[in-house]
Amino acid sequence: MRIDIITVVPDLLEGPFSHSILKRAEEKGLAKVRIHNIRDYSSGKQKQVDDYAFGGGAGMVMMIEPIAKCIEALKSERDYDEVIYMTPDGETFNQPMANELSLKGNIIILCGHYKGVDERIRQKWITREISIGDYVLSGGELAAAVVADAIIRLLPGVLNDETSALTDSFQDGLLAPPVYTRPAEYDGMKVPDILLSGHQSKIDSWRFEASVRRTKERRPDLLEGNEFQGDLKFE
Ligand code: ADE
Repeated sequence: MRIDIITVVPDLLEGPFSHSILKRAEEKGLAKVRIHNIRDYSSGKQKQVDDYAFGGGAGMVMMIEPIAKCIEALKSERDYDEVIYMTPDGETFNQPMANELSLKGNIIILCGHYKGVDERIRQKWITREISIGDYVLSGGELAAAVVADAIIRLLPGVLNDETSALTDSFQDGLLAPPVYTRPAEYDGMKVPDILLSGHQSKIDSWRFEASVRRTKERRPDLLEGNEFQGDLKFE
């Protein structure tokens, strides 16, 4: 999979992709992330990428030309499945979207800045608009890093333990159960006995029930209309 991220602040994106799982995905050849500086596509000495909004008002608007040139240059090199624009007024990102996007081949992600991009960019080039939540960031870069991380960790071979992405919160519509490691007792706080029992099927049932209970307590909205609403054995 290849993800091309278009931004006016490439430095903001260097960190997330040069560490840990995302770095390993790149080294293993499973995911390629390339960052493109919009300024490199701006004509003129000033390398201008934004301008005043028609109609007045505070805040600058990202100009069409440098973004269009960058997108067209990328598209001339390969086909893209999606051209995504990160924006607070997009569709709210969630695990099913991450799953779906992880099946794509090539994706472009455009990061907005200032007051956003000229609307005509959205009309002509953008195939999908994504928000990572109902709050406004100073730009789309951190949001793009969130989306890219959520996608890349799902690619087969990226995580060491192949099953671990499948047991994440949200993958089965439930939050993940609590987890523990050694020591079995710390300052009087004990790990639930069942997890030390070695009885795998009982452990699996305990985890499932703990997931349902946690989801009921914290995110009852996730349980609406599904079959886990009944009483819990371990309550
Ligand atoms: N850009 C600014 N805020 C954002 C958000 N919440 N999601 C995606 N992109 C953004």
